[in-house]
Amino acid sequence: MALTNLRSGRSGYSAEMDEAERASRDEIIALQTRRMTWTLAHAYDNVAHYRKAFDKAGVHPKDFRQLSDLAKFPFTVKTDLRDNYPFNMFAVAREKLVRVHASSGTTGKPIVVGYTQADIDMWADVMARSIRAAGGRTGMIIHNAYGYGLFTGGLGVHYGAEKLGCTVVPVSGGMTERQVQLINDFRPDIITVTPSYMLAILDEFKRQGLDPRKSSLKVGIFGAEPWTNAMRAEIEASFDMDATDIYGLSEVIGPGVAQECIETKDGLHIWEDHFYPEVIDPETGAVLPDGEKGELVFTSLTKQAFPIIRYRTRDLSRLLPGTARPGMRRMEKVTGRSDDMIILRGVNLFPTQIEEILLATDWCGGHFVIELTREGRMDELTILAEVRPESWNDDGLDKHAEMVRVHIKNTIGITAHVRAVAPDSLERSLGKARRVYDKRPKD
Ligand code: DLL
Repeated sequence: MALTNLRSGRSGYSAEMDEAERASRDEIIALQTRRMTWTLAHAYDNVAHYRKAFDKAGVHPKDFRQLSDLAKFPFTVKTDLRDNYPFNMFAVAREKLVRVHASSGTTGKPIVVGYTQADIDMWADVMARSIRAAGGRTGMIIHNAYGYGLFTGGLGVHYGAEKLGCTVVPVSGGMTERQVQLINDFRPDIITVTPSYMLAILDEFKRQGLDPRKSSLKVGIFGAEPWTNAMRAEIEASFDMDATDIYGLSEVIGPGVAQECIETKDGLHIWEDHFYPEVIDPETGAVLPDGEKGELVFTSLTKQAFPIIRYRTRDLSRLLPGTARPGMRRMEKVTGRSDDMIILRGVNLFPTQIEEILLATDWCGGHFVIELTREGRMDELTILAEVRPESWNDDGLDKHAEMVRVHIKNTIGITAHVRAVAPDSLERSLGKARRVYDKRPKD
């Protein structure tokens, strides 16, 4: 898994970084301050929602002099975007948009986002930078299995990969058998896909009797859903590849807001020349100091069509100092969304905690779902954990499941039921995995 495994054969990275990646912290802060001044005025002058919200909060773009002043400005939340469906959050005339995307959401209207040509170019730049930070190089082949369409994953990666000078295979999600065939025949260096679907691809390699460690893949760029370092270890060992994390959301741009660097794999560098991060206390809204865990909030710094001010992502993380890119801060791997947090008899729990525990066993490869039910007045949590095919005939699976139950009790403090289920019995997602099935009666 050494960097020198890469086809480019290079182990040094700094020579290829762009200007912003080489900038000092002070230079980044100066740039952000200038760009934030522009963004606040642009949003206030051109989007009725922001004008109203700023006026209501008694702030004006002129009140912004330094980055800490941003805390005076109001947050933007998902319902603000929904209320302005479809086109009322745009700061430019509709004719200036070259593309829209939409995130489906589970209920109601989708959220629509839009891009000018300059926005698309900026997005391609940050995506090209992300792919390069993950170990991608000009001339490599990239198998892009993120969904194409209204979802930002497919086209976001696509334009960035082209900009970097890669050969893109725009497979999109689904048809797992064909994915494996194309990987074998085209011999891509890079794969871009959700980590949960990568596990489905892994299963298919094995089903076809192919050794995934012998595949051409050297770099994986995984995101769009929470995943753990335990999952990284599983994927890296299975494919003999480097797996890095990519983060983004449609409201901010799509994939490419932050990316883990291959040389450190220590959290994701936020591309702070375009996206300004804050972490807040989700209860009070107070800005937390770097290092403290809370909800991520983003403000765009250069977007024309869809400037976004202090958007509450619901994603939980914390900000850390830059390492591989010293001028830009990192965000810790997202543990989950506050919406995904399960509260079981007073104890908070995220699906990623279960993923970590299951992947520490020999018998479960990481396919699992959580079911919530109610027996009388008590909420019950059942984990259906799929057994690896090679372990299915093992004696004592019940005992293994029991060990997981005890481990969960000891580490998280909840009593869960754990059921070891047959290989390939749980539904596979083609994109973002659905981990939680809440079957409790609605009251
Ligand atoms: O998922 C954009 C994307 C595509 C990111 C491909 C990475 C790769 P949305 O559909 O708007 O956009 O969903 C955004 O997905 O708020 C997080 O909750 C979650 N998410 C995205 N990346 C990560 C990640 C795309 N690396 C929502 N880790 C975000 C954890 C992630 N969660």
